[in-house]
This record gives sequence, C-alpha cells and structure tokens, in this order.
Amino acid sequence: MLLFYGKLLYHFLYQYQHETENRRQENIPGRGGASFFMIGLIGGSGLHEIPGFKVNERRAVETPYGLPSDEFMIGELSGRTVAFLPRHSYNIPPHKVNYRANIRGFKELGAERVIAVSAVGGINNSLRPGDIVLLNQLIDFTKSRVNTFYDGDDVVHVDFTEPYCPELRESFIRASESGGIKLLNAGTYICVEGPRLETASEIGFFSSMSADVVGMTGMPEAVLARESELCYVALSVVTNLAAGISPVKLTAKEVVETMNRSTEVVKTLLSGAIGLVPQRRDCPCGEALKDAGM
Ligand code: HPA
Repeated sequence: MLLFYGKLLYHFLYQYQHETENRRQENIPGRGGASFFMIGLIGGSGLHEIPGFKVNERRAVETPYGLPSDEFMIGELSGRTVAFLPRHSYNIPPHKVNYRANIRGFKELGAERVIAVSAVGGINNSLRPGDIVLLNQLIDFTKSRVNTFYDGDDVVHVDFTEPYCPELRESFIRASESGGIKLLNAGTYICVEGPRLETASEIGFFSSMSADVVGMTGMPEAVLARESELCYVALSVVTNLAAGISPVKLTAKEVVETMNRSTEVVKTLLSGAIGLVPQRRDCPCGEALKDAGM
C-alpha cells in the first residue's frame, strides 16, 4: 500500500518537474515559437488588439509585483514570436497601470525587447492627428507612481541619457522607409500624471521645454524596461492636438476614434519593423545594470 502511494507521489512529482522544465524551455529564446526570440508589444488606448495578429496562446503571468494588465497574447507577426499586452485592459487608467508587473511579465516570458504603442496629444505645431512619432527623448512629469524596481536595499542609478533602444529605433526607421510609411523619426515625449488632460498654460510650458507630444503612460514604463535590461522603443500616435492648441474641446472619443483609424498603418509599421529586428542584440540595453549599483 505504502509502496503504491509512494509510486503515485513519485509519478506526480516527476510529471510536475517535467512540465515545469518544458515551460521554462519554451520561454528561453531559441526554443519553440516562430523564431529564436520573443518580442514584447504593449498596446495603448484604442489598441486592444492587432488586426491579423494570430494568437496561439494566452498566458497569465504572476509576478512579485502583482498581476500585469491582462493575460499575454502570444502569437506570430512577421514570422516572429510576439507577446502582446493591452496596457489598459479592463479600462485601467494610466495612473493605475501596474507598470512593474507588466515589464516583469515580459521578462518572465523571456522577451528581450519591448515595443510600446501609445496615444498622445500633439504639441509641436507641425503635428496632425494620425501622425506617428518614433520617440527619442522624454521628460517625466509623473508624480505618484512607483518608478523603480530598486526600492529596497539595492541602490541602482541606471543611465537614461538615451531612454529608447537605438537598435529598435533603427528597425522602425528602416521599416517606414521601405514601406513608404510617414513616420517622424524623432520626438520628445512629456509624461504627465493624468488622468485629467492638461491646461493650455501647461502645454505652453511643455512647448517651451521642447516637448513634441504629451501622454500619460510612457513613464515609468521606459525606465522599468531599462532597469530590466530590456530594449524598449516607443511609437506615439497623435490622437488629438494638445490643450490650447486644439480648436475644439478635447474628448476621449476623439482619442479612441483617431487610434482606430490609425490601427492599420500602425500594424503595417509594426510588422515591417518586427521583421527587421536583428536576432542578436548589439545595443547597450542588455548591460544597463553594469556599473549602475552603488
Ligand atoms: N494629453 C495627455 N495624454 C494624451 C493626450 C493628451 O492630449 N492625448 C492622448 N493621450
């Protein structure tokens, strides 16, 4: 009898260990999936799904920081394995997104790169709704968000001179050129706390600081990716002209409608760029923690 239960226990333990190992191996770049590596993709307001993105699996990931915005939808785009996460699933407002859980979730899945799409208000005079900006700089005006993984005993100051991955940016620039897609390939993003929109004076001030676009989700997402040694790139879709510039009252409806109209072109750009991401990283992102600790 004892022997029978012993064998049964051994069987279950073996099965469990085997399954855990399988799952671990699936997450290692180089095993399984459409390609050698996984690319993370975060969708912003109005971008809860990507047309034509074939989802093979939905994976719930628990992290030490709590739950990400939703389950990760894992599928294929341009022959590569992509893990898609809608940032505002279940209507989570920008100041309540669990940014740490989202970024940690990608890390646990084995992704080395994250592409973030977000809706923004246009500050720069030349911008029009529907324009897409590939960011190269940011200014952080958030006030009450947990903005680091290092709030314990470890003191870490990551270099953030260039907040976005140069290699991923290059893939987007090349994809826009070869696909004939209009893309502004540099722009400064100012991140505000929200959820309210800005006053006209605030936008005037941000404009004097050379900010091109304003949004509510770019931080701490970008710095958490850097602290995780992930490559991170941000694509901003101008959904409205910013407060005081727009001749009409700003509405959430305008944001969602413009984003919906841009989904096809965003998807074409994403597919092109994802297909151009080199398999091996040749950028400084993977060594962000080197020499960053006190
Ligand atoms: N301000 C802040 N965030 C935004 C805006 C805006 O005008 N549009 C879309 N996200």
